[in-house]
Amino acid sequence: MLMVNGIIDAWRAGASLPNPGERSMPVLTVDRRAPGGDLYTPLLELAAARARHYLGSIGDRRVGPSRADIAALDQLGGALTKEGRDPVAILDLLDRVGSPATMAVMGRRFFGGVIGGSLPVTVAAHWIADAWDQNACLFELSPVTAYLEEVVLEWLIDLFGLPRKSAGALVVGTQAAHVTALAAARHALLAKAGWDVEQDGLFGAPPITVVVGEEAHATLLKALALVGLGCRRVVTIPVDSQGRMRVDALPKLSGPAIICAQLGNVNSGCCDPLEALCDAARQSGAWVHVDGAFGLWASTTPDRRHLTTGVELADSWATDGHKWLNTPQDCGIAIVRHREALRIAMAVSGAYLGEPAGRDPMRWCPDSSRRGRAIELWAALGFLGRRGVGEQVERTCRLAARFADGLRRAGHEVLNEVTLNQVLVSFGPDDLTDRVIRAIQEDGTCWCGGTTWHGRRAMRISVSSWATTEADVDMCVDTMTRAYRQTP
Ligand SMILES: Cc1ncc(COP(=O)(O)O)c(C=O)c1O
Repeated sequence: MLMVNGIIDAWRAGASLPNPGERSMPVLTVDRRAPGGDLYTPLLELAAARARHYLGSIGDRRVGPSRADIAALDQLGGALTKEGRDPVAILDLLDRVGSPATMAVMGRRFFGGVIGGSLPVTVAAHWIADAWDQNACLFELSPVTAYLEEVVLEWLIDLFGLPRKSAGALVVGTQAAHVTALAAARHALLAKAGWDVEQDGLFGAPPITVVVGEEAHATLLKALALVGLGCRRVVTIPVDSQGRMRVDALPKLSGPAIICAQLGNVNSGCCDPLEALCDAARQSGAWVHVDGAFGLWASTTPDRRHLTTGVELADSWATDGHKWLNTPQDCGIAIVRHREALRIAMAVSGAYLGEPAGRDPMRWCPDSSRRGRAIELWAALGFLGRRGVGEQVERTCRLAARFADGLRRAGHEVLNEVTLNQVLVSFGPDDLTDRVIRAIQEDGTCWCGGTTWHGRRAMRISVSSWATTEADVDMCVDTMTRAYRQTP
């Protein structure tokens, strides 16, 4: 099978990557008499050397940390010392004790969730952003981060094929993006019913009916709780064999209502039938919110876009850069069709804020002080381009299919239709499946977690890293099969 990975492969062939042979721990000392009192350079060089060593040796270490590595974390605790410590000693301790207790998501064989290891260009951009230390709340305080945010939101809206005039916000993750979008929905629906929710709150407000699928993600329910819509009072509708909401089970809606759909079921990866859901919603004026934490990215590749048909008909979307796009963590994205609804829901005023000098990010999101998340998004999208984003989605989907084929050939049962990057595998009775998962985690070649799906225990494989190769998948299938054979 042809693996599509043009942009990344071309870069890999020409770039000088961290030398995998560089295995020994770098020893750097800080010259405190450095000219000009430059206290940054020695520490940054030390951090860079340590980081290079970490990344250069990641393929040789276990993917999940050992129990001993976790127990050693004690060395980072204890009472806060009265006097501070030398920064070199701090970095040394952090790397020596902390690095072994990380999950090696930056390696090639972590499959425990859609947490793709960051693209190298985004890690490097993050370092520059750290040197800048911008507070990306107001244009006036950080023109570059405010400007980049406008740029990336425009790129993303275009990439996903969403309505061009939509507004957006960069937040910590999809859960926060749900909160942001649901606050806009709450505003729009209640304003239509003559209620000012920002001023008067929800006490006494007209009720909003919220419809979710039986397999809605836990973070959506938490977001509903956070915006005062409650997670127990939702109307839950049944799903089909893959976890897709059943449109025929939608209740007749009247009055303010939100339908929460999903692209990318956390277990099966399946996508709700958005077109039909949006059609039904239109008849009653309901707002459709889409949890597209990872599945929204399927819209960026011609071979998977059909899974997201109708996506542009919804009213709001939540997704992440830190999942399938492989930016560093802390990169959620909320997009809302109705600009005014988002602007009013997120409005903030104060004498010190003054007149906006440009688009002020804090006027579009729940945060005030915040980091410049747009920087890594801009770097990732700029590096990959439209074609590279699609390739990243496509190749990881194909690797997931390769996992499923290999596991089936080895005699294991794949429980889901593998349409995206998720594979659910059972090794037999529930307790055996759990023991095999533990054995695989103990082995350390790769890392996958467990889940319960339609009443059965399963191992969940999520493929989302730019770095994973076909050879990695084949090696992991062998490891899993061996673990199964050796498990009593
Ligand atoms: C479908 C779905 N929705 C929401 C989330 C939450 O995303 P985040 O952790 O970025 O808030 C996830 C994360 O796994 C997810 O898979």
